[in-house]
Amino acid sequence: MEPRNKPDEGAPMIRLGPDAPSAIRIESGRLLLRPLRLDDAADIQRMAAEWEVARYTANIPHPYEPGMAEAWIRSHRDDFEIVFAIERRQDGAFVGCIGVEPDMKTRDAEFGYWIGMPYWGAGYATEALSALVDHVFATSDVDRARAAAMPDNRASIRVQEKVGFRYVGVKLQAAPARGGSIGVHVRALDRRRWLELKAPPPLPIVLVAAVALVDADGRVLIAQRPEGKSMAGLWEFPGGKVHE
Ligand SMILES: CC(C)(COP(=O)(O)OP(=O)(O)OC[C@H]1O[C@@H](n2cnc3c(N)ncnc32)[C@H](O)[C@@H]1OP(=O)(O)O)[C@@H](O)C(=O)NCCC(=O)NCCS
Repeated sequence: MEPRNKPDEGAPMIRLGPDAPSAIRIESGRLLLRPLRLDDAADIQRMAAEWEVARYTANIPHPYEPGMAEAWIRSHRDDFEIVFAIERRQDGAFVGCIGVEPDMKTRDAEFGYWIGMPYWGAGYATEALSALVDHVFATSDVDRARAAAMPDNRASIRVQEKVGFRYVGVKLQAAPARGGSIGVHVRALDRRRWLELKAPPPLPIVLVAAVALVDADGRVLIAQRPEGKSMAGLWEFPGGKVHE
């Protein structure tokens, strides 16, 4: 990945909860999102060098020369983008990267991610994106999560849709592996929809009406018409009219 640009002068500092970005650790069912370490460089170097990974990203050049991963990790600036290693909890394997760039002025946050090819198809990108989106909405004032994908990147589009993102438009985005910029599709998930998706499903409503209308001699004065009869299910007075 290319060293990051400097943020706008005077841009508000990113804050996600009380912890400094470099201290944030997010756990999901199978994954841990944790700050990058220098000893991730070898994994990143190997995985990001794959054309199939680089060609869809906004920040991985191709070819990916030796030393680029380490330079990228060292260039990390917590104050405008927070990048996490995606680690598999079961065995500590490094499986990819995910980052978020919150803009505290517009209250939008842009998400980006990649998974190393040996780990594709296991649901890791979906799980990591979902966990990070949850964390950002839960710990900041961000109102809208956004993510972009090249129109032919069906896997990434599917990941975004599984997390709840919906198409909002197109924009031009850097594609360093392709040597220029490319039109990408932007999808977004706003806070209100995120809350709806997170709300527990409504409990089924069960109406129970128990009626016992019995006279002093124990005779049933009200009963339900049996199934199969006309007006089945309605209540009636089999014992005759009730008088005062
Ligand atoms: C896109 C990427 C992150 C997906 O990672 P992943 O961990 O394999 O994703 P998941 O397993 O969570 O989900 C992938 C979904 O896409 C689907 N998918 C994969 N290839 C597909 C294709 N060619 N067409 C349609 N759907 C496809 C999978 O079936 C799965 O959906 P499902 O759960 O409904 O079956 C990974 O392929 C990658 O890193 N690609 C290169 C870099 C990149 O594209 N980054 C994102 C930039 S926007």
